[in-house]
This record gives sequence, structure tokens and C-alpha cells, in this order.
Amino acid sequence: MDVRELYKRKHISIEEAVNMVQSNQKVCTAMAASEPQGLLKGLEGRKDELENVSLVSCLMMGDYDILKPEMKGRFINETWFYGPGDRANHPHGNVTYIPNNLHEAGKKKLANDKINIFWGTASPMDKRGFFSLSLGLTYEKMMVEEADLVILEINENLPWTLGDTHVHISEIDYLVEHNAPLLEIPVVEPQAEERIIGNYIADMIEDGSTLQLGIGGIPNAIAQSLTGKKDLGIHTEMFTDGMVDLFDAGVITGRRKSLWRGKMVGTFALGTKKLYDFIDRNLAVEFQQGNIVNDPCIIGRNYKMVSINTALQVDLTGQVCSEAIGNRHYSGTGGQADTHRGAQRSEGGKGIITLRSTAKRGEISTIVAQLPAGAKVTLGRNDIDYVVTEYGIAHLKGRSVRDRVEAIINIAHPDYRSELRAEAERIQLW
Ligand code: COA
Repeated sequence: MDVRELYKRKHISIEEAVNMVQSNQKVCTAMAASEPQGLLKGLEGRKDELENVSLVSCLMMGDYDILKPEMKGRFINETWFYGPGDRANHPHGNVTYIPNNLHEAGKKKLANDKINIFWGTASPMDKRGFFSLSLGLTYEKMMVEEADLVILEINENLPWTLGDTHVHISEIDYLVEHNAPLLEIPVVEPQAEERIIGNYIADMIEDGSTLQLGIGGIPNAIAQSLTGKKDLGIHTEMFTDGMVDLFDAGVITGRRKSLWRGKMVGTFALGTKKLYDFIDRNLAVEFQQGNIVNDPCIIGRNYKMVSINTALQVDLTGQVCSEAIGNRHYSGTGGQADTHRGAQRSEGGKGIITLRSTAKRGEISTIVAQLPAGAKVTLGRNDIDYVVTEYGIAHLKGRSVRDRVEAIINIAHPDYRSELRAEAERIQLW
């Protein structure tokens, strides 16, 4: 097979690609930094003729006219994880959340819905006809295999990543070329409370542990607290910038990992150009599909696996809400429950939920007696292991509600402790 010839035959324009979308279809798009920006922008050209088109996406990063309020009825974003645009659009009714644990997201969707079209992104083809799906492998390869029509947007800025990321030209229907700058999220300097949290968590991590560092501000602060550790490994849903610094400092070696020894394993990457350059053809970085990386049974086979994720609120019994602020949907469950549960299956493992004790410049306690109406339980109290704030560590696993109430109040902000205790008494939380 002459793969160059095949490339030419399958190469179409963005306009031709978006013209293949029909009303009432489901178009699944690759996630976050691997979003097909050219195709999504191109779809704007059909915004006055299509009706009831569902985009099936995850952590959409770009700002697209097709998802503006006036497009309601024409396009809806069904998403596994809200991005900034979804939060803004939610009140208008043109975005809806798909509840899921990320390791099962693609499989469950496909069990219930036909995906008509998959739009992925990939780095340019090699001489043997292979592309790299690059920054996202959470559900993307599953969609290449299952969607009726597969179109890849080839972007020369995307890194060539290693692992299970490769797709052959014979497996796709069409490709378009679009060299958009890569989507990035900045690294924010940690606040004082986050540094304290980082130090508590550093004390909980033994040399030779394998880590999952979740999404949000605190995990990057934690990475900065780990510079004195030895031989850490990475088995994570998301690769982040903090991991690059730890690798470069010789802290991450993966030498004592019990799975994929010597490799940092993850399912998608989201950060800055520094991260994307780091993972390009890096033999130390292995992308595997989300149903493997995030499978709690596989996570649990790592030795001393420590999962660190962030939350918005924790109640006094240990219920964790990480995806909503009351009725306002904020993000998603993602792999939080997968990795928290998986880490507790591991020999010497720990599941850690961490959050600042207050939000909105101290005006709100994030530790609450009860979750408010509309809050979603991202991690149930049966599964919680540790909660950490800047006031300390509460180890909740196996402890009674009475003991949990005391332990959690002790890590709440001192200004809110008596109020929390009074409320716990009032609702007979023991
Ligand atoms: N009540 C009201 N508002 C709150 C709040 C609370 N209890 N807690 C936080 N907020 C506000 C913050 O003030 C901030 O508002 P702003 O945007 O106006 O500044 C906003 O909510 C986000 O809070 P922040 O702490 O900055 O969030 P983050 O970017 O660090 O992300 C999560 C934290 C929990 C949203 C994020 O980690 C998440 O979505 N987790 C679930 C998925 C997950 O953990 N996956 C794991 C594998 S990657």
C-alpha cells in the first residue's frame, strides 16, 4: 500500500468534512488539548442549517459559536467534563453533563448511543502511514474503532506521543490539515495555604511511591513540595507541568514501579508548551487508554499508589463534592473516584482528597455539616480515605460518623469550627 497516495485520497478540506454532518447526528470530539479546533470552528459555517446535532466531548477548551445560547436546538454539547464555556452556557440549556467514572466513559456511551462521526486530532503521518493521537487517549481510540465515520485533524504542532496512541491511515476515513496553536492552561503560582497543604502531603508520600496528581491548582503546588523525594513513579489520568519539573530534577524515575517500570503512564496531557515539548517522542512517557489507566483494579496493582485529587466541598461524614457548587455544575467526576478507590487497593496505597478550608477569600467554609441542595456526591463516604486541608490531615477510612465529625472539624478553618459543631449537634450527626 502506498501510504502517501492513500493520504492524498483521504485528504479533504475542513468545509468538505463539516458538510458530512447531518441533523440529528452525534459527533464525538477528542478532548481538551487534543480538541479538533479547525473542524469545530468550521462547523460554524453550517450553524443556520443543522438541527439537533449533539457534540459528545470532554473538557472542551475552545470558544465556539455553535455553542452560543442562540444555537439552542441546533447544537448541544453532551460532555463528560465541563470546561469554561460549558459553565457559561449551562444556564441557556445547550450543554448537558454525562455522569460517569472516566474509565468507563467511552464504553458506556457506546453501549447506549451510536456515535455517527468521530473528529480526532493527530500529529503528522510517519513514512509507514501511522499517526499519533498525541495528547488524548481517554476514549479517542475507542471512537476511532467504533464511530461510523472517522476524520482526523492533522496538526503539525501536536507532539508525537508513545504508547497505544498510534492509528494507521487505513483505519480512518478522511483527514483534514489545520495547524492551530495548541490549547494550554497556565501554571499558577501556589497560594500560601496550598504550600502548607503540599508540605502535609509530601510527608504522607514515601520514597518509591507511584502518584496520580489530579486537575486543579493544588496538585501543581504539591508537585513543588516533592523535590526532596526519591524514585517516585507516575500512573495518572492527566500529565501535568509539575511532573516535568520532578522528572527533570531526577525525583521521578519510575525505578520502583510495579507496573510499566521506568515509564510515566497517563491517558491525556493538559498544561503548557513545556509539557507538550517534554512528552514529544519521550521514551519515559507512555499513553494508554482511559479504560486501562483509570481502571481501579489496574491502579491498585501499583505498589504504594497515592492518588491526590481536589474537591469543592467535603461534609462532616466524608462525602466529597468536586463537580458542582450547589445546583451550578462546575466540572465533572472525571477519574476522581477511579483513582481514589484504586489507590486504596494498592499495597501501601493512599487515597487523598485535598482542598483549601475556605473559598471566596475566606467568606465560605468548604467544610460543611451537610452538602447543600443540588450538590453532587463525586466520592461517596464509603470510599473516602484521607482529607487534607491547610489545617491538617483527617484519616477517615473505617472510622465511625462520630469520629469523622471530630476529625473533619479539626481540619476546618478555626473561624467555622464552632458553627460546624453546633450544626452537627442540631442534626444529630453522630
Ligand atoms: N463554594 C463556592 N465556591 C467555591 C467553593 C465552594 N465550596 N470552592 C471553590 N469555589 C470556587 C472558587 O472560589 C473558584 O471560583 P473563581 O473561579 O471565581 O475563582 C472556583 O470555585 C474554582 O475553585 P478552585 O479551587 O480554584 O478550583 P480548581 O481549579 O483548583 O479545581 C476542582 C478544583 C475540584 C473543581 C477540580 O479539581 C475538579 O473538577 N475535580 C474533579 C475531577 C477530578 O478530581 N479528577 C481527577 C483526575 S484528573
